[in-house]
Amino acid sequence: MNQLQDLDLKNKKVFIRADLNVPIKAGKITSTKRIEASLPTISHCLKMGAKVMITSHLGRPEEGKYNPELSLLPVVKFLENYFKKKIILIKDWVDQKIDLEPGDLVVLENCRFNEGESDNNENLSKKYAALTDIFVMDAFGTAHRKQASTYGIAQFCHEVCAGKLFFSELDALKKVMSDPKSPMVAIVGGSKVSTKLSILESLSDRVDQLVLGGGIANTFLKAQGFNVGNSLCENDFIDSAKKIIKKLESRGASLPLVTDVICGKDLNENEVAVKKNINDLDPTDMIFDLGPETMKGIEENIKKSQTILWNGPIGVFELNQFSKGTESLAHSIANSIAFSLVGGGDTIAALEKFGMLKNMSYISTAGGAFLEFVEGKKLPAIEILEKRSTVE
Ligand code: 3PG
Repeated sequence: MNQLQDLDLKNKKVFIRADLNVPIKAGKITSTKRIEASLPTISHCLKMGAKVMITSHLGRPEEGKYNPELSLLPVVKFLENYFKKKIILIKDWVDQKIDLEPGDLVVLENCRFNEGESDNNENLSKKYAALTDIFVMDAFGTAHRKQASTYGIAQFCHEVCAGKLFFSELDALKKVMSDPKSPMVAIVGGSKVSTKLSILESLSDRVDQLVLGGGIANTFLKAQGFNVGNSLCENDFIDSAKKIIKKLESRGASLPLVTDVICGKDLNENEVAVKKNINDLDPTDMIFDLGPETMKGIEENIKKSQTILWNGPIGVFELNQFSKGTESLAHSIANSIAFSLVGGGDTIAALEKFGMLKNMSYISTAGGAFLEFVEGKKLPAIEILEKRSTVE
């Protein structure tokens, strides 16, 4: 696909589709990570003398209706503070003639207020394309959506390219999924096998070890014949778990050996964490974390690995007494020589809690798009960027 750095931007109108879908509480942004990740593309365009328009979605508003709670105004304030200049937020921008000078930056209000955005309306896509000379797709977090601002505009715009963030996200994911250095370890946590089944299937074709956490781990433990007591477990997915285990074994890959777990009887902050041998669980026990002996085995494998993909915590990291498995895993990844790619809100929140975000090789800003890529799906935004490539 075309890359932003290779295009001549001087005096050109540039329309950047970013993913500035940040969490906002009472008008205040609670995590600015996605905006920060979008800054290199914006700064590059400004530096190269482009006339810059940037838009994003925020939340999932009803189309055709302005909703002040989902306005990009807090994002504009952040950008004004960063670029130390006044930045205009343009409402109802689809049918406007937007006059800009080289080096100008304007923000186009939440693109999901526009009727036809979500179903990739052709007429709207053509109107978007008519606003600009160049379309820069930088919203990797929204690459799995086939919408007017992520797909349609790229069909009709004269020149189309991937932005810096989009390209680096894709590069990191490809490093892990298309051409991983082995041995590769994937860690997948989460409450349900059902929501991550395709990812587990896809990873079981690639990895040398598949480390599981949360309810997913419990379902696999039950599939291996262990008694998991009263733990969160999906009985309907035990057969799927067995198939994945068989596939791993047939490739000489493995699940880690679970020998001890951390249990409780109820999930609350005062619950006492009890370490138990995996063979000694009572019917009322619930597994909330992996035990130190099990983690030691996992960490031995992490030490030897060259590629690590991590999506989902190992235990209930929000409660300190059940966070040790996730924390020790984070430390061993930080100390390993492997390329480590981390994605998913919970995993990032866990790393933030342990102050270890900076210790991973790459942290993806994407949620759903990250998971769909790992599942092996072709993301619409990647498909259209490749189709519109002019690279020989
Ligand atoms: C996300 O938060 O994962 C992206 O911004 C995509 O948002 P969406 O699921 O509302 O399309």
